[in-house]
Amino acid sequence: MKAVICDRYGPPESLHLADVSVPDPGAGEVLVRVHCSTVNRTDTATLRGHPFFARAMTGWWRPRHRITGMDFAGVVERCGAGVERFAPGNRVFGMSPERFGAHAEFICVPQNGAVAVIPDPVPMDEAVICEGAWYASSTVKRLARGQSILIYGASGAIGTAAVQLARARGAHVTAVVGPRHLSLARDLGAGQVLDYTVEDFTAIGETFDVVMDAVGHTSYFACRSLLKPGGLYCATDLGPVWSNIWLAALRGGRVGVPFPTDAPGFVQDLAGLMQSGQVKGVFDRRFAVDDVIEAFRFVETGHKTGIVRLDLAA
Ligand SMILES: NC(=O)c1ccc[n+]([C@@H]2O[C@H](COP(=O)([O-])OP(=O)(O)OC[C@H]3O[C@@H](n4cnc5c(N)ncnc54)[C@H](OP(=O)(O)O)[C@@H]3O)[C@@H](O)[C@H]2O)c1
Repeated sequence: MKAVICDRYGPPESLHLADVSVPDPGAGEVLVRVHCSTVNRTDTATLRGHPFFARAMTGWWRPRHRITGMDFAGVVERCGAGVERFAPGNRVFGMSPERFGAHAEFICVPQNGAVAVIPDPVPMDEAVICEGAWYASSTVKRLARGQSILIYGASGAIGTAAVQLARARGAHVTAVVGPRHLSLARDLGAGQVLDYTVEDFTAIGETFDVVMDAVGHTSYFACRSLLKPGGLYCATDLGPVWSNIWLAALRGGRVGVPFPTDAPGFVQDLAGLMQSGQVKGVFDRRFAVDDVIEAFRFVETGHKTGIVRLDLAA
């Protein structure tokens, strides 16, 4: 099968395509024929081996898992012994946050892993929405119905998912985006939308239960006046010299860098939200697998809208 291979940490040019063996599903595993994947910020960070401590999971000197790619949507091709949750022909989606391997024509995933049946109304190539939503959910799950959140950078994969997940929890959303994303943020459900190029969002005179930096371009110190008493500042990035980590340790309860957990449970919940139409993918450019290097370069610009797809099906 065709697969995107990463044998060393580095820039997108470190990737190459190769023909490798189709994996064999072990006991409790399903073999999925991948139709569509994504290139996301987890993929680009993993390729660069950044941040360095993340190499404890991905391999200190070279990537432990050679095939890149986290998100997948496709069709179950074959089931290993003891698989009861899935059958050949099922349309499934999910992610492989530890072993990666989704940038290939086939991937093996544990039936009890982060995989679920794609809800009927959702086209297969619109089901590759896990990565950003998973990161977003780790912040948004701290919101209760009726609370408020300001999402800075609500136009990336994490930000667009955060707006929808917060609305699904009954929270009031203020989104801060650039001029080309104002109507997108409104359409996703933000009640108030601010343009970061013309407005100082820190001076709007309102306070929020949660302030989320979804792009790593603001800071706790810039945003703390926006927090209600007991409010929480969350960031998807570590900040300069890992400041968000230190602040989370020093100002516990006030600053958080939420690391997402329970990938299997998250994907099941996401399937329900996709079924009800409360969460849908926002998609930018789409690349053929042969153009994977160009796809990584584009994602590394930090200016994509939502999700960048990678087509594996010929
Ligand atoms: N280390 C990891 O494994 C990891 C994993 C996932 C995510 N992350 C971090 O999470 C962040 C978000 O990732 P993502 O995939 O959701 O999105 P992304 O690819 O970083 O896209 C960011 C979005 O934010 C907008 N933007 C750019 N500069 C901005 C600014 N100064 N103020 C407000 N908005 C701005 C961009 O649109 P415009 O340019 O048009 O405004 C774009 O739509 C990234 O910073 C990434 O490093 C890290």
